[in-house]
Amino acid sequence: MSSIRVAILGFGTVGEGVYKTINSHKEKLSKVLGKRVEVAAVLVKSKNKNREIDNRVLVTDDFEEILNLEKLDVVVEAIVGQEPALTYLQKAIQKECHIITANKEMFAVHGSELQKLAKENGVSVGFEATVAGGVPVIQTLQQLLNINQIKKIEGILNGTSNYILSEMRTNDLSFSAALQAAQEKGYAEADPTNDVEGYDAFYKLMILSEIAFGGKPEWAMVPREGITGITEEQIKGAEKLGLRFKLIASIQLVNGTIIGSVRPTLVTETHPLFNIEGVENSVSIEGDIVGRITLQGPGAGMLPTASAVIEDLIHVVRGNQNTVTLCPLSNGEDERAEDKGNQNWLMIHPGEAQLTSVPVSVVTQTDNHVYLKADEPTISTLRKRNHQASFFEVLGEFQLKKSV
Ligand SMILES: NC(=O)c1ccc[n+]([C@@H]2O[C@H](COP(=O)([O-])OP(=O)(O)OC[C@H]3O[C@@H](n4cnc5c(N)ncnc54)[C@H](OP(=O)(O)O)[C@@H]3O)[C@@H](O)[C@H]2O)c1
Repeated sequence: MSSIRVAILGFGTVGEGVYKTINSHKEKLSKVLGKRVEVAAVLVKSKNKNREIDNRVLVTDDFEEILNLEKLDVVVEAIVGQEPALTYLQKAIQKECHIITANKEMFAVHGSELQKLAKENGVSVGFEATVAGGVPVIQTLQQLLNINQIKKIEGILNGTSNYILSEMRTNDLSFSAALQAAQEKGYAEADPTNDVEGYDAFYKLMILSEIAFGGKPEWAMVPREGITGITEEQIKGAEKLGLRFKLIASIQLVNGTIIGSVRPTLVTETHPLFNIEGVENSVSIEGDIVGRITLQGPGAGMLPTASAVIEDLIHVVRGNQNTVTLCPLSNGEDERAEDKGNQNWLMIHPGEAQLTSVPVSVVTQTDNHVYLKADEPTISTLRKRNHQASFFEVLGEFQLKKSV
């Protein structure tokens, strides 16, 4: 039986998970692929750290040694940050290796150029693990795109933030106490900025945008807000109204323009993301034919992420080009386009709310809240005029009761 030789770049949570899964599922992989899969090399930063790696595997801190291997079929990249990951993958493609990456930051920025280079070199790119860990959102999207046009994607793409918001609500914790709990459980890194400020969800959203709409919005035009400003008081107040805070990433095509946002949002009990708690991720995809599909599962972790990487490994080895299909961005009159128009918003602590001379329709008003319908530009104006108030979009069917 011939063999598929794999190099793994990085031996942290993801790299080690991939290594272990290839070894624990050798027979199954041989059956599925008709070829033996073997790890030929592992690239790390510190070569002298003690690791459980078979001594027949080359362990190196020099990528050139990996490139010089006599036979290499697939390079799996699981290191952190844009460089040197990008350069390594470009070199691997030029050596006609298929590549698979879990690195969302690098792929959000350089995904399309890597795919172009891969096409020129007749190899494939797998990137399922870049979005929502073990949840097969990319394969699902690509499958749907065979016939559907995607109207909208929205989801909880960062498990750390979702865990913190869930902890704050269920255990009456402040943001910093919930963050500490997340760090103690290994869900948040020592520097949690990427997660709690919305960057991680933003990178994933940009990757989804490219698949669904064939392009990304201008990054500076995408509002990105994390959860660091959410207070215990806001969470309790929302709960009394039957609402939960979630860090929602959303992207859609409106009149030929891709519009996205990452921000704390209130969701109602009727919304599919209401019950997504703890470190879970969930992605809701709206297609013109299929309607709304919601996927849910572990968004990170050693084995869930390894599962996504190994699925990609099977696809690239089988020569399934599905992993590189992008649908071109259409312009102008697009059937998918619909006016985003008014959304529902909750204004908290309105004080002497200044709502005149802008196109707002107030649905209900109490001492502490105004539930209103307005579009994004109007909300921006209102934010400037009403410094004391906070504004959150509300997803799902909601009624603000006068008695609350
Ligand atoms: N953790 C998850 O659940 C998860 C899920 C989905 C996607 N991802 C993404 O997957 C990637 C890896 O995440 P991780 O959690 O596995 O990271 P990690 O635990 O911090 O491990 C990173 C690994 O990369 C190696 N490394 C870092 N810089 C390197 C360099 N310049 N040259 C060679 N090796 C280098 C490190 O080597 P040493 O061991 O020698 O330090 C380490 O083995 C990231 O891009 C992350 O965003 C992670």
